[in-house]
Amino acid sequence: MPENGRRPMMAANWKMNKTVTEAERYIAALLPRAADSGGVDVAVFTPFTCLSEAARMAEDSEVLVGAQNFYFEDSGAFTGEVSAPLLLDIGVGAVIVGHSERREVFGESDETVAKKAKRAVEAKLLPVVCVGETKEERDSGGMWDKISGQTKAVMDELGGDVSGDSVVFAYEPIWAIGTGDTASPEDAQEAIGQIRGLLRETRDDSFADSVRILYGGSVKPENIAEIVAKEDVDGGLVGGASLEVESFEKLIAAADGQKDG
Ligand code: 13P
Repeated sequence: MPENGRRPMMAANWKMNKTVTEAERYIAALLPRAADSGGVDVAVFTPFTCLSEAARMAEDSEVLVGAQNFYFEDSGAFTGEVSAPLLLDIGVGAVIVGHSERREVFGESDETVAKKAKRAVEAKLLPVVCVGETKEERDSGGMWDKISGQTKAVMDELGGDVSGDSVVFAYEPIWAIGTGDTASPEDAQEAIGQIRGLLRETRDDSFADSVRILYGGSVKPENIAEIVAKEDVDGGLVGGASLEVESFEKLIAAADGQKDG
C-alpha cells in the first residue's frame, strides 16, 4: 500500500469490443495474474453482452467486473437501458459513469452523469466517474472550468454522507483518448492534484485523501510507470492497451511495482 493509504486501481475499459468467447478467454487468463497483484485493485469494464459470463467467472476472485454505462432509474419504460438492480443481479460490482464518449457521442449532460453517480453509490455499485477537457478547451484556457464544473456537478448531487472509498474519479483528457498522445506525467499530476484540491474544498480532508483518482488516455505499458509514480495518480483507466490481456497484465504489474510502499 502506498504511503498515502490509497490502494491503486488498474481498470480495463474494453469499450465496444470483444465477443463472449473472447471475454471468457481473457478473464480466464487474467484471474491467476490478478490473484497475484497484491497491492492493486483490478477492474474490467466489459460490454453488456459479456457482463454476465465475466462476472460469473470472476466471482470470489480479485477481479472486479463492471459495466460501461447504466441508467439511474431502477426499472420502467426506458427502452435500451440497463439499471443498477439489473447489473447487481448478475454480479456486476462497478460502473463507468460519464465517459467522454457517452458525453460527446450520446449527449450525456453533467446533470445526467451526476444522477448516475449518485444512484450507483446508493446501489453499492462502485462508480468510476470520468472528467476531462477537449484540446480546444485546454488551448483556450477553459480546461479547469470544464473539469471543475463536471466534478462539482457530481459532488453536489452526491451530498455530504458519501465516503471517499465509495466513488472513484478518472481524469481522461479527451485529446489523449485513443490518440497515442498521452498527457505527460506532470500534466496528469497537475490536473489530478487540482481535482483532489477541489474535493478537499467542496468536501473535506478525509474524502479528498481517500478518494482514488485514475488517469486515462493512451496509457501503455511503456508510459504507465512514470504516470502512476506521481503522488496524486492512483492508477489507470485503459482502453486500447487493455484489449490484449498480456498488455493489461503488464500495466497491473507496473502499477503494483510503482505504488508499493
Ligand atoms: P485509450 O487508452 O484507448 O486512449 O482509451 C482511454 C479511455 O477512454 C479509457 O476509458
